[in-house]
Amino acid sequence: MKLFVMGATGRTGQEVVQQAIARGHYVTAFVRSPESITLRNERLTVLKGNAMDENELSEAMQNHDAVISTLGPREVFRPGTLLHDSALATTRAMNRSGVKRLVVLSAAAHFPGIPNRIASFIMRNHMRDSLAMEAIVQANGLDWTIARPPRLTQEDSVTYRSREGAAPKMGFTLSRKAVAAFMLDAIEQKKHVHKIVGITR
Ligand SMILES: NC(=O)c1ccc[n+]([C@@H]2O[C@H](COP(=O)([O-])OP(=O)(O)OC[C@H]3O[C@@H](n4cnc5c(N)ncnc54)[C@H](OP(=O)(O)O)[C@@H]3O)[C@@H](O)[C@H]2O)c1
Repeated sequence: MKLFVMGATGRTGQEVVQQAIARGHYVTAFVRSPESITLRNERLTVLKGNAMDENELSEAMQNHDAVISTLGPREVFRPGTLLHDSALATTRAMNRSGVKRLVVLSAAAHFPGIPNRIASFIMRNHMRDSLAMEAIVQANGLDWTIARPPRLTQEDSVTYRSREGAAPKMGFTLSRKAVAAFMLDAIEQKKHVHKIVGITR
């Protein structure tokens, strides 16, 4: 498949790119800082662009099978609208360029529960932006999947548990490698379309 990855220079995004290449896919990494990508592969194309620019995105994502976004603000405590703004531009660009499948990374803190409510309060600026992103993703006629993991780690495991509409029981962390595996599995297996999915270790 031909995959369009946003956030490819980030810790989860790098895992998505590496695993996608290892699985035999073609990857376009759409990034603001191409120099941050050191991986070289004949199936990897790195494009410099603005994740909030609908015109740039719609031109760049022509002829792709799916979009994966692992974008996230570098400073989570500062007010920002990165996720909202990029979701708006991305979903509009997808509709213009005819790409239907979208898998995005959100957060388990949006599920109910007291620990999640505390996390949501501490990270309220980021969570507000992330929830706004989720609303846009669901409202634009695309084949979307929203992945909601708990705290992310750099562990080496690619295994995860998933549950549609809720967090799997007793899961408090997940490796970024496993998040990437989930996102790719969802696309390859055409699973969890129009679903918010709780994922955990
Ligand atoms: N950390 C956790 O425990 C946790 C838990 C649950 C969910 N999540 C979610 O997971 C997501 C990704 O996490 P991560 O650790 O992989 O993030 P990360 O390593 O901080 O990567 C963030 C990515 O977003 C890009 N980005 C940031 N601001 C941008 C902008 N203005 N324009 C274009 N690109 C921009 C970064 O590009 P540059 O390299 O150019 O900066 C980078 O590729 C976050 O959104 C977060 O909500 C995190």
